[in-house]
Amino acid sequence: APHAPQVIRREDYQAPAWLVPDIALEFALGLELTHVTARLSVRRNAEGNGGATLRLNGDQITPLAVRVDGAAVNDWRLDGPDLLLPLTGDAHEVEIETQVNPAANSQLMGLYASHGMLCTQCEAEGFRRITFFPDRPDVLSTYRVRMSGDKATFPVLLSNGNCEAQGEGADGTHWAEWHDPWPKPCYLFALVAGDLVANHDTFTTMSGRKVDLNIWVRKGDEARTSHAMDSLKASMKWDEEAFGREYDLDLFNIVAVSDFNMGAMENKGLNVFNTRYVLADPETATDADYDAIEGVIGHEYFHNWSGNRVTCRDWFQLSLKEGFTVLRDQLFSADMGSPAVKRIEDVRVLRSAQYPEDSGPLAHPIRPDSYQEISNFYTATVYNKGAEVIRMMRTMAGPERFRAGTDLYFDRHDGEAATCEDFVNAIEEGAGLDLAQFRLWYAQAGTPQVSASAGHAGDSVTLKLTQTVPATPGQPAKQPMPIPLKLALFDRETGQHNGEELIILDKAEQTFTFKGYLRPPVLSINRGFSAPVAIDFERPVEDLVFLAANDDDPFARYEAMQSLIVRHLIAGVGGSLGERQRQADRAAIAQAFEAVLADESLDDLMRGELMILPAEGYLAEQFLVADPTAIHAEREALKAWLGRELKDRLTQLHDRVSAVPYSRDAAARGARKLKMQALIYLAAGAPEDAKRRAIAQYRQADNMTDRQGAVMVLAGLDGPERREALADFHDRYSGNALVLDKWFSLQAGSLHPDVLDHVRALAEHSDFTMSNPNRVRALYMALAMNAQAFHAASGEGYRMIGDLIRKLDPINPQTAARFVPSLGRWRRIEPRRAALMRAELERIAAEPSLSRDVLEQVTKSLD
Ligand code: ARG
Ligand code: ZN
Repeated sequence: APHAPQVIRREDYQAPAWLVPDIALEFALGLELTHVTARLSVRRNAEGNGGATLRLNGDQITPLAVRVDGAAVNDWRLDGPDLLLPLTGDAHEVEIETQVNPAANSQLMGLYASHGMLCTQCEAEGFRRITFFPDRPDVLSTYRVRMSGDKATFPVLLSNGNCEAQGEGADGTHWAEWHDPWPKPCYLFALVAGDLVANHDTFTTMSGRKVDLNIWVRKGDEARTSHAMDSLKASMKWDEEAFGREYDLDLFNIVAVSDFNMGAMENKGLNVFNTRYVLADPETATDADYDAIEGVIGHEYFHNWSGNRVTCRDWFQLSLKEGFTVLRDQLFSADMGSPAVKRIEDVRVLRSAQYPEDSGPLAHPIRPDSYQEISNFYTATVYNKGAEVIRMMRTMAGPERFRAGTDLYFDRHDGEAATCEDFVNAIEEGAGLDLAQFRLWYAQAGTPQVSASAGHAGDSVTLKLTQTVPATPGQPAKQPMPIPLKLALFDRETGQHNGEELIILDKAEQTFTFKGYLRPPVLSINRGFSAPVAIDFERPVEDLVFLAANDDDPFARYEAMQSLIVRHLIAGVGGSLGERQRQADRAAIAQAFEAVLADESLDDLMRGELMILPAEGYLAEQFLVADPTAIHAEREALKAWLGRELKDRLTQLHDRVSAVPYSRDAAARGARKLKMQALIYLAAGAPEDAKRRAIAQYRQADNMTDRQGAVMVLAGLDGPERREALADFHDRYSGNALVLDKWFSLQAGSLHPDVLDHVRALAEHSDFTMSNPNRVRALYMALAMNAQAFHAASGEGYRMIGDLIRKLDPINPQTAARFVPSLGRWRRIEPRRAALMRAELERIAAEPSLSRDVLEQVTKSLD
């Protein structure tokens, strides 16, 4: 590395030396030149121990003028990107002028231009790209914003809070003044200016406050905002009922932007969203897209309390707002739809995205101890494992007591910048839990491994459990953590159990005894996925078949089926599967599938869920050193066998669900989910049949779920139909960026043997651009997730992702850094490929001027 990176440590936290109770911002807007005047009322912090110098953070900006108490000063100096200003008294007014070029801001942090509009992204450290400021979340200010600009270019002018005045200026300009009464850190500041139209609605809060709601989009997109609006109103109502949280302004604005690094941003009163989490209609959005919109709209709305009213003291506390808010959005989505299916989906995300993080070179606790670039810590660990950790507290307390804990938390810390410790204290007191040892979940990285073994004598069952938390970078030795496990013991003859129990495993090794069992029962453990751990339990196949057919906990039932399949695939990949065993396993799996297909008590959404095979990434996790090609082949072979074996059942199923007309209700969505699953198995086992069905499905489709499903199958098969379907799909949606993203993803993620050639050609396609993160992810994230292509023996998949990172880094480092973890897993891949992956990382590391984002991820991956 060119120079030693600066490491920020949690233990070094110091209270700010200066506070900024008020700030007034003035923007003279222009796409290529925006002039910013910031007036900060600063006062010395009694709790800080800084000197007389005020440090204001900056990033690629220079001051045009600095004034203190109205008089120009020139005793300031720059310290790297920061501005240092000596001050004599305890309270001053500091005024600074800067200017920025939003059109040149390809990083999409700070103030940037997108399709002729201006917008901002300030979390985590983007505000310092707009003006000099103490850019840290524990400095809370009241904001006044005045902006002016050309009325034709920027007919709509938005910022946080309420619009208090607006008017016309000279030369076709106009202006608006906004005031946000709620003090906030600068990462929640937002400004939007552009030619936008709103879907307007209202919501009346529980205390009777009427709130104006607007979802702002580009002209022509209004018709696709109704689902987002419904989701917003449902979120507002749900947070009142589930957490007692009411909205606190008269106005709530959402703006959809097509160039956006992440999903969305919870700026106070002015959420900014990636278009993909706003726009939907049946013709262009899949059922999964609809669900994601509901979830993200909820997530950002819920931040108004968990994030905005109570914010984070420093960025190490990120999970305080993100883990908690993910839990809140998960509970919301569960209440809006099927709790069982939602729980399984959440676990699938955790296992495929977070487990690999926890077992790789970038593993970190949900509250990290250090970082170089905070953008790299917006991870599945901080978000999704963070949510699981809080969910465990809820499980141990029960929903009512947990609610008493969150009430206390909101009450006690409203208006403050809090820590994870504050949260745990509030839950501990409010819910009446002892969380002393539980705090380890915040400090220790790594997925705990729990081994179980059961014995039976007389009428008692003994369950022996051991736990180990694996070593992770910087944390060689771990302590045992409290692991709440829900379990039930089934009588194998009656298929019943005597009620669910919650046990807490909090030692390295512990034995639990259960009395009153004359026959050895079948153990159902970690029901509902009560703890984010991996369970290792050697047991006969019959027990898994039993649970797959009988468990009354939907997650446990899913889990039994997954285990049945996972253990078979692991044995197959490991070469320890004899032909007899292979046939026996397959018969058991087919039997479980048949039971799922026949079970009248299941709805189709759940039935579809149970049919999904374990992800390749999750399978790879089961090996110390994985051979991704072997895993892929074994999984495909099982899929093909099931497709052949169950061909008649699957074609009947496909016929049945194809007759269900489109609607957004659960039954119709379940039908579409099954349609997809049936096609996937048929494509593997009976490709000609699947091809005919996919073509018919494509032609008849009156919705994107069916159409995309059909193209997905066709994109993996050979022949002219593939080309025709892809060409038709492209031309049909050539004006719709979000659907074109799907077009790129379907090809880069396909099962076709020539994916790498396809991706190479697509990178040259006139619709491809490196400047739009959605498009980059559509093509390259799909490739990085496509095990067969990414792990091609030639190393070409690695090379393509490596090239992408090097090319994208100077344009958009935040998005570039997101691709590093796929290469960073080299230690867990068989040696020949591992060497190729490592070489790719070294090639990136050799670049002369890498961003801090990519440098941190690459060096940690090579260490
Ligand atoms: N707080 C946002 C959310 O959870 C994410 C913003 C992340 N931004 C970033 N630059 N890393 O919805
Ligand atoms: Zn969030």
